[in-house]
Amino acid sequence: MFRDKIQNARSAYTYDDFLLVPNASWVEAKDVDTSVNLTKDIKLNIPIMSAAMDTVTESDLAIAIAREGGVGVIHRNITQEAQVEEVRKVKNAEDITVRDVITISPDSSVATVQELMENESVSGLPVMDGDEIIGIISKRDVRPYLKNGSKTLVKEIMTSEVVTITEKASPEEALDLAYEHKVERLPVVDENKKLVGILTIKDILNQDQHPNAALGKDGKYLVAAACGPFDLDRAMALDQAGADIISIDCAHAHNMNVVKFAETIKENIDADLCMGNIATREAAEDLIAHGADGLKVGIGPGSICTTRIVAGIGVPQLTAIADVADVANDAGIPVIADGGLRYSGDIAKAIGAGADVVMLGSLLAGTYESPGDLVTMNGRKYKQYRGMGSMGAMTGGSGGGADRYFQELEKGNSGQMKHSKLVPEGVEGVVQYKGRVSEVVFQLVGGLKASMGYCGAPDIPTMKKVARFVKISSSGIKESHPHDLLITNESPNYPTLD
Ligand code: XMP
Repeated sequence: MFRDKIQNARSAYTYDDFLLVPNASWVEAKDVDTSVNLTKDIKLNIPIMSAAMDTVTESDLAIAIAREGGVGVIHRNITQEAQVEEVRKVKNAEDITVRDVITISPDSSVATVQELMENESVSGLPVMDGDEIIGIISKRDVRPYLKNGSKTLVKEIMTSEVVTITEKASPEEALDLAYEHKVERLPVVDENKKLVGILTIKDILNQDQHPNAALGKDGKYLVAAACGPFDLDRAMALDQAGADIISIDCAHAHNMNVVKFAETIKENIDADLCMGNIATREAAEDLIAHGADGLKVGIGPGSICTTRIVAGIGVPQLTAIADVADVANDAGIPVIADGGLRYSGDIAKAIGAGADVVMLGSLLAGTYESPGDLVTMNGRKYKQYRGMGSMGAMTGGSGGGADRYFQELEKGNSGQMKHSKLVPEGVEGVVQYKGRVSEVVFQLVGGLKASMGYCGAPDIPTMKKVARFVKISSSGIKESHPHDLLITNESPNYPTLD
């Protein structure tokens, strides 16, 4: 019986064990469509998510990745209030409406207007009679009076026909209105006609620099947020703050208490519910039956993970993806391949094995937008990167690291967290600094597009179908990497110095 367990064990594989086989192709890399449905209602323009880790995703990185067409998952190793604030920052990122409006009374003098405009660096002010907006005055209106008429009153020279716009109007509608009435700024009013902000043509025109951005149903940048497996309060607060996806963040989502509680979370939020991590088809079946809108796959493949070593648990990632995808695809539930990706080719392999989207930690941790400071060592730049199950993450934040691994923090007599009571499943270190998220994503998506061209796949759903694999040996891996030379110029998509 025990012998059978060993002898009948399946083989399982990961990225380096396989290569994609080129197919006859009419597809050019530049023409492929990398968009993908992350859930029934949420579409990404690139199949990339950033990991819910305290050295990877806060609002800066989530904004940067959404601009490129992906989505960031705000980590939960901060207080609920701080995490809600991070979600709000993403949602307000492209809010070009100036909310802190400086206004002026109709009985103020031109001199006062001029002083206010200079001090506050604004070039136009709404004129208010109590709560009512009765005019607008600009630099151009006051200029002729500055020399000899500085006592002239605002009400004598303001533009009294005020063109306002409601908060719900799209940027296009705002532009049309501004052009039609030949005005440079539009006061924004709420449904009770109360002034809530001001919008300028210049800001609207400057706005559209991210045509590939991933947007939620609210027209704002997409954002996901992680919550603990039993943290209903946090899930509801993040949902109310506008998170498009709530991601139950747990090292073993096939823990049946987690599976069961997911139903309660799901009932109490409007956002889509993503669950993970899992690595088997049985887990996929149970999670789908309990309401998961997306499944996150990966037990121990991550660059900072020690679960496989500490607990002896895990399934090599490509096999895990394929096992889960067989169940999820039939149910129409997207699969997120989380962790273990080192090169752009791994994204293509993950999709070929049935994933819809990949989740990246180490590949994004070294960017300008990730949290944390740059560290310089031996003349090279690095950024800190640590596992959420590492000692530092479990004791250093709000406890989000520890309960991901079902561990409880204990306070010592002095109030310090007791390290000795924790069993870490991750390590702490640094990764090479890589510049802006946009540059990193450009290379990753460029590699994916090249792969889709080789496979003859014009889009991601076709890539999932037509990708064929060959299993390779250790000499095949060796042959795949550059060999028999000393690399003198580092490539942006093939880092050689770690
Ligand atoms: P990469 O390889 O992209 O992996 O750096 C990121 C993913 O790793 C998971 N993660 C952990 N897994 N111990 C683990 O076993 C940890 O301390 C840990 N921290 C993160 C997580 O799924 C992440 O997205």
